[in-house]
Amino acid sequence: MASSVFWVSLCVFALALSISSASEDSHVLGYSPSDLHSEPKLLSLFEAWNLKHGKHYTAAQRLEKSRRFHIFRENLMRIDAHNKKEGSTFKLGLTRFADLNQEEFKQSRRLGLKLPVHRLGSLRHHSNRKPAPSSIVNDLAGSVDWRSLGAVTSVKDQGMCGSCWAFSATGAIEGANAIATGSLVSVSEEELVTCSSASGCDGGLMDEAFEWVINNGGIATEETYPYSSYSGISAACNTGLEEQYKSVSIDGYADVTPYSEEALMEAVSKQPVSVAIEASAWDFQLYAEGVYNGTCSSDPYDINHGVLLVGYGSDNGVNYWIVKNSWGSSWGDGGYIRMIRNGSPFGICAIHSLSSYPLKHASTAPAIAAIAES
Ligand SMILES: *[C@@H]1O[C@H](CO)[C@@H](O)[C@H](O)[C@H]1NC(C)=O
Repeated sequence: MASSVFWVSLCVFALALSISSASEDSHVLGYSPSDLHSEPKLLSLFEAWNLKHGKHYTAAQRLEKSRRFHIFRENLMRIDAHNKKEGSTFKLGLTRFADLNQEEFKQSRRLGLKLPVHRLGSLRHHSNRKPAPSSIVNDLAGSVDWRSLGAVTSVKDQGMCGSCWAFSATGAIEGANAIATGSLVSVSEEELVTCSSASGCDGGLMDEAFEWVINNGGIATEETYPYSSYSGISAACNTGLEEQYKSVSIDGYADVTPYSEEALMEAVSKQPVSVAIEASAWDFQLYAEGVYNGTCSSDPYDINHGVLLVGYGSDNGVNYWIVKNSWGSSWGDGGYIRMIRNGSPFGICAIHSLSSYPLKHASTAPAIAAIAES
C-alpha cells in the first residue's frame, strides 16, 4: 500500500529535519544592517527590491514612487527593530509586500476567506477544551512534513484575487490524491473560482470547494485549466473543460474538531489539512523565517485566510506548524511559514478554528492492477 511507504519515509525525514538548521543572513531578510546607514543606501536598496519584484515606475509616476519609498523605509525600520529584539523566534524581511502599509495590504485581496459564522458561533467560548486522550498524543510522530513525502505541489500565487479558499482546497485535494494514488497532480484553482457556486475572487470556503468537487465528479488539472484570475478579474466558467476533465476526484470530506491542537496534529499526521487563519498582521505580511509568534489575532471571528497545513515539528523546544501559503515564493520562507504551536485553545492566529480535509479511498483511485491487465 502506498501509505506504508509514506510512513517509512516519515521516519527518515524526522532524522533529516533534526540535522538541518535555520540559516539567517541578509539574503533571506533582503537587507543588511549597513543599508540603514544613509539615504542613498536606502534608495539603492529600494531600487534593487523594485527590480527583484518586477516593479517599474515611469517618470510620470514619481510621486507614487516616492510614496512607496516612504512606506518601504518605514517597514524596513520596523523590520530591523524587530530583528534586533532578543529572544524572538522569528525574523522579518523585505517580502514582496514591503512597499505596502498594513491597511493597503489588507485591501489588496490577498486573503479571501468567507467567515462561516454558523460554524464558529456556538464554539467560540469553548476555551475549556478537553485534552485529547493521551493514547492519541503518544501515538503521534514527533514531526511530520508532507513536502518531503511527495504530497505537496510547489508554492502557488493567488495574486490580487480573494481566492485563498480555492488554493487551500486544491492543496488538500492534491495531498489526499497523492497519498491514495502515489502520484502528485496539481489541480485547478481556476475551475473552483469560476465554476463552483462560491463567489470567486470575493471569497469562499474550503468545505464548499470540497462539496463542489464531489458533486462535479472531479476537478481538472492545473495544466488543463490554468489559473488566470491573478489580477482579480475572473472569466466565465469554461463548461467544456469542466465537463471533459474530471481528472482528480475525492470521495468526501471531514471537519477537524475545532480548538484542539491534538486533533489538528492527528489530522495532519494523516494528510495535508485545509486550515483558516487571521493573516493581516503587519509582522505576518513581512515574515521571513523562523517560528512565527507575532501579533495576529487569535479570535476565531477574525479568521480571514485559507492556507494548507502540511506538517508540524519542534525546533530547540519551540513547537511549530508548517503552513503552505498562496502568496508565491517571494513571501516568507520560500512561500511557507512556520507558526508556533503554543498549546493555546484557539492556536496562533486562530489556526485551530476551521480545519478540514478531503477523503479519498485508495480503492477509488485508478487501480494500478487494472491498468496492468489491459
Ligand atoms: C510568544 O509570544 C508570547 C507573547 O509575546 C510570549 O509570552 C512567549 O514567550 C513567546 N513564545 C516564545 C516561544 O518565544
